[in-house]
Amino acid sequence: MIDVKLKGLTFKNPLLAASGTFSKEQLGFYKDIPFGGVVLKTHTLQARSGNPGLRIMELPGGMMNSIGLANPGISELDISPFVSLDSLLIVSVAILDESEIEKFTASIRQKEIGIVELNLSCPNIMGKPSLEDLSDIKPLLKSIRAAFTETTIWVKLSVFQVKQKNAELLEEIGFDGITAINTLPGIDVDIHNRSFKFKNKVAGLSGRFLLPVGLKAISDLRKWTNLPLLGCGGVFDHEDLIKYLMVGADLVQLGSGIFSSPKRAEMIIKGLREYLESSNIRHINEIKGVLQ
Ligand SMILES: Cc1cc2nc3c(=O)[nH]c(=O)nc-3n(C[C@H](O)[C@H](O)[C@H](O)COP(=O)(O)O)c2cc1C
Repeated sequence: MIDVKLKGLTFKNPLLAASGTFSKEQLGFYKDIPFGGVVLKTHTLQARSGNPGLRIMELPGGMMNSIGLANPGISELDISPFVSLDSLLIVSVAILDESEIEKFTASIRQKEIGIVELNLSCPNIMGKPSLEDLSDIKPLLKSIRAAFTETTIWVKLSVFQVKQKNAELLEEIGFDGITAINTLPGIDVDIHNRSFKFKNKVAGLSGRFLLPVGLKAISDLRKWTNLPLLGCGGVFDHEDLIKYLMVGADLVQLGSGIFSSPKRAEMIIKGLREYLESSNIRHINEIKGVLQ
């Protein structure tokens, strides 16, 4: 009824935890994990301490974050708390240049990780030029695809990268799916101190108000590519998930919504089942992509 089969992988339901919003500490909330898959936070090759100053700020309709990809480096990633879960594990990586690829593939192979989400869209790395035309890094993308021979690779885009030529390029190179979208860049101001609230000035905006932006991104991508699509941004309840499916997503990621309630994922899946039953829909495939 709600399982998703994608290129030889089976997800028990279409809801995934989005990168950076789910960690081993949250596993304690669940007897049975309610996610079809869990995307771990983005790992780089070298450890990163992350951004200085304020890192997370709550807003009425969401939140802003300036984590800055804090992580211990891919070789230190411990996946052991996740391997026996009834949920597929996806590791998010940011590969900055060709010289890093070999060490990444070695780590991924050694940890037996089957699915990787390649994060091309983190807005929080200081000094990193904004990358809107993926043909600028075509050789790097081709090398990454060629090196990860047995790994499913999804590519995560920001809304500024959701373009027809980028979608066609990713399909041509042979990636296995596209995740859209990451947070939107924004700033906030402390009027008393006459300063920016975040030390890096720009932080990533996420939460409910991202839903229409994410839905448009998936709807556009669905016109341009046959690749599996993962909708992300603004999911809060089962209706949001269904909207993503209807505009063409195969899987849907829940991010900031996890923070406001550990029960949210369970409620989304319960709501999805009830919607399908009351509408006499036998499988979610019947509603997938019905809106072109
Ligand atoms: C605190 C926080 C940390 C995040 N860290 C990452 C990350 O490491 N890698 C990544 O690709 N996205 C990261 N994201 C972005 C989310 O995965 C997601 O794309 C974004 O929040 C939009 O979804 P949402 O509106 O459901 O939160 C992070 C988001 C938040 C709120």
